Amino acid sequence: MNLFDVYPINDVTIVKAKGSYVWDDKGEQYLDLYGGHAVISIGHTHPHWVKRIEEQLEKIAFYSNSIKIPLQQELATKLGKVSGKEDYQLFLCNSGAEANENALKMASFHNGRKKIIAFSKSFHGRTSLAVAATDNKNYIAPVNETDNIIFLPLNDEKALQECFDTNGKEISSVIIEGIQGVGGINVAENSFLQKIRSLCDEFGAVYIADSVQCGYGRSGKFFSHDFSGVNADIYTMAKGMGNGFPVAGIIIAPHIKPKHFQLGTTFGGNHLACAAALAVLEVLEEEKLMGNATLIGKYLRDELEAIPELKNVRGRGLMIGFDVPEELKDLKKNLLWNQKIFTGESKPNVIRLLPSLALKKRDAEQFIDSIKEEIALLQETAS
Ligand SMILES: Cc1ncc(COP(=O)(O)O)c(C=O)c1O
Repeated sequence: MNLFDVYPINDVTIVKAKGSYVWDDKGEQYLDLYGGHAVISIGHTHPHWVKRIEEQLEKIAFYSNSIKIPLQQELATKLGKVSGKEDYQLFLCNSGAEANENALKMASFHNGRKKIIAFSKSFHGRTSLAVAATDNKNYIAPVNETDNIIFLPLNDEKALQECFDTNGKEISSVIIEGIQGVGGINVAENSFLQKIRSLCDEFGAVYIADSVQCGYGRSGKFFSHDFSGVNADIYTMAKGMGNGFPVAGIIIAPHIKPKHFQLGTTFGGNHLACAAALAVLEVLEEEKLMGNATLIGKYLRDELEAIPELKNVRGRGLMIGFDVPEELKDLKKNLLWNQKIFTGESKPNVIRLLPSLALKKRDAEQFIDSIKEEIALLQETAS
C-alpha cells in the first residue's frame, strides 16, 4: 500500500530530536526553527515531558470519558492558573480543527444562531465547519460549502461594524486567530479585537479566539489575544499544548453553560494526553518560557529588521514572519540544505519562524549569521 500523497515533502528523514535540534538518518544535525509547524513548545523530547508520559504509560494510557479522570481536572486547574482564565471551563479533544469545530458548534448551541464571521487569509482547520471558515477555496470540498460564513477583511473595523449592523441578530460567532499563521503571520490589532468584543456583547454573538497556533505562550503571553486586554468567550488550543503529543481543547467562559451530550469525544482528554499537556504547562512555568519567547523573539525581530533585503518583519514573541523578495526566493531552501536550518513558509514569499519557546540566544544568533550568509551567496550568484 502507498501513502495518500497530500503534501510536498522535504527529502529528509528525522530520527532523533532534542531541544531545538533534530538529526536525520545520516547523523546530520539541524536547527529546528519550525517546530513541526509550531507544535514543539517546550523543546523536543524534554526530559520532564518524557518522564511524565512514561510514568503515565506504566499506569494507564486510556479509558473513555464514561469514568472519572482526575488528571483532566488537574489539567484544567493548572491551565486556569497559567492562562489566567481560572473561571473558564475546559473541554478536551484531539486536534486544532476539532477544537474550532467544537467552539463554533458550542457558540451555535448557546445562541441558537447560524452565521459565522471569519477573516481573509484565515486558517481554522480541515473539518467541515472549520474548513468552511478557512479562507482558501482549495481546501473546501463541495460538501463543505455553506452560506453561513461571512468573510471580512482582517483589521477592518468599519466592515465589521457594517456587517453587524446588517446581520447582527443572525451572527452566532466571530472566529479569529490572534496572529494568523498559515495566512502569513498577520497580527490582529488590539483595537480590532476590542471592537469584536464590544460588537459580540452588543449583539449576543460569541467571540472565538483561535489560539491553535498563536496560543500556549508562543506570543510571549499565554494567548496572543491577551495583548488586547479583552477576553474572548471561547479559546481554542492545540499544537503547542502537547509538545507533539496529540491533544487539543477549548476553554469556555462561565456564562456559556454545558448541556449533556452537546459535545463529546472518545479519545479527547485521555490519561496520556493529559499527562503530556500537564508536563508542558509545568515546564512552561518552571523555565519561564513565555519570558524567553518575548526576549528571544525581540532579539530575532530586531536583527531581521536590520537586514535590508527582508521586508515587513512582523509577529509577536516566537511567532515571526517576514517577506522575502523574488530574487531571494531560494532562501528557505538554502537555509535548509546549506545551513541545516528548518524554517516555515507561507505562500508565496513569507518565511515563518515557529521555534521552541526554549530557543537559546546562541541558536538565534546562529540563525541570523546563517541567513545573512545565504542572502549574500544568493546575491553573489545573481550578479
Ligand atoms: C490557527 C489554526 N487553527 C487550526 C488549525 C488546525 O489544526 P489541526 O491541524 O491540529 O487540525 C491550524 C493548523 O495549522 C491553525 O494554524
